[in-house]
This record gives sequence, C-alpha cells and structure tokens, in this order.
Amino acid sequence: MEPRNLLFSPSMLGGDFSRAAFEIGEIVSSGADYVHLDVMDGSFVPEITFGRKFISDLRPLTDLVFDVHLMVERPEEKIGAFASAGAGIITVHAESTDHIVRCLSMIREAGCESGIAINPGTSVSFIEAALPFADYVTVMTVNPGWGGQRFIPECISKVEELDRRRKDEGWQFLIEADGGVSLDTIGPLYKAGMDIAVTGTAFFREDDKADFLERMREKAEEWL
Ligand code: DX5
Ligand code: ZN
Repeated sequence: MEPRNLLFSPSMLGGDFSRAAFEIGEIVSSGADYVHLDVMDGSFVPEITFGRKFISDLRPLTDLVFDVHLMVERPEEKIGAFASAGAGIITVHAESTDHIVRCLSMIREAGCESGIAINPGTSVSFIEAALPFADYVTVMTVNPGWGGQRFIPECISKVEELDRRRKDEGWQFLIEADGGVSLDTIGPLYKAGMDIAVTGTAFFREDDKADFLERMREKAEEWL
C-alpha cells in the first residue's frame, strides 16, 4: 500500500520551558510540521502551563503552524486571545463546553483552523454532529493534563472510527493522536488512520530529533 502523508506536531510540554526558544529551534530543525502548545488552566485539568503571552513571544521564532491545544473551561472566552497570539490551529475539548459548534465557528471566524479534542472516556458519537465543522479531530490517547503518561491502546479504535466516518461522509478533517505517542505506539495509530502524531516526551528525550522523526515514519509505514 502507498504510504499516506504523516505529519508531526512535537509538544513543547516535553521540553524545558526555561529555554523555550532553543526548544522551538529543535522542533524546526527536526523537520516537524507543527509546534504543539498545550494550554492548561488548572480547572479543566489540574495543571497550569502557559497562556497567550508565552505563545505570542514564541511566535516570531518560526514560520511553523502553532497547533494550540486548549485544555481550559469556557474555551469560547479564550479563542480570540489565542488567535491573536498567533495560533494557526485552535483545538477545544468537546467536554469543556456546551457550545462546541459555536466554538469551532468562532475559531474559523478568527482566521484559524478548528479542532475538537476528545478525552479517552468520550466516544466519537458524542461529537458526531460537530464533525462537519472541524478541520482537525484530536483523539487523546492519555488523559489530558500531563506529559509522559502511558499510552491507552483502547483509544486506537476511535481513530479507526473517525477515519471510517470521514470516508463515508466525505469530511476533510485530519486526525491527530495526542499522548504517549512513541516508536512503540505509532504503528497501530497510523494503520488506524492517524494523520498527525503529537509527540512530547519521546521527542525531547532524543538527541537527534530529525533522525527520531525519520524512525517514527519508518516504524509507522511498517504497519501498512
Ligand atoms: C497532555 C498533552 C500532550 C502532551 C503529550 O495533556 O495534551 O500534548 O504534551 O506528551 P507525551 O508525548 O509526553 O505524552
Ligand atoms: Zn496536547
């Protein structure tokens, strides 16, 4: 089978925030496609990471698209701020708002691409009606809130289901997997239909990050 495109979105959460500019450089020189930025508010998830200023300060350092993952309550109140901070993609959690379609429309109106994320305990059917409004769907393969957690293999079937549904309906969204993605787990995710791999801990522990992404791609393609 002809390999499909596979994109990488390394997560800054796996890096050292005290040298954030250096870490962005590492992501750029690895040949990655996006920079994944995890915004946590201490309410939707227990941890607090960073907000719009951190993102707008990083913005001039690269042309790569900023893939901003909002793990916050009431995301509809924050979309404008993150769009003007330089996000290219803004992803909101289906569990964090009663107004997911309104959020997705607001994201597009703000000039960004729209993403929906679902927790391990949330089914694809829960977001079915919102799928036509999404440019990206992120399947969380760990419980959101921390880097370095163990991959939850039961989530792979949701990637498969999303891939099947988009083919049936002609929807164009890309499927991202986030959490515990490594050389050990990328194969079945890619086989299931994942287009974008988020990788934090596995990426930043490598010395040669370009070589790591190459090995990730080879490992994925072995599963086709
Ligand atoms: C977790 C975050 C992830 C995290 C992934 O809530 O959404 O993006 O950085 O990190 P690893 O690859 O370490 O699981
Ligand atoms: Zn994330």
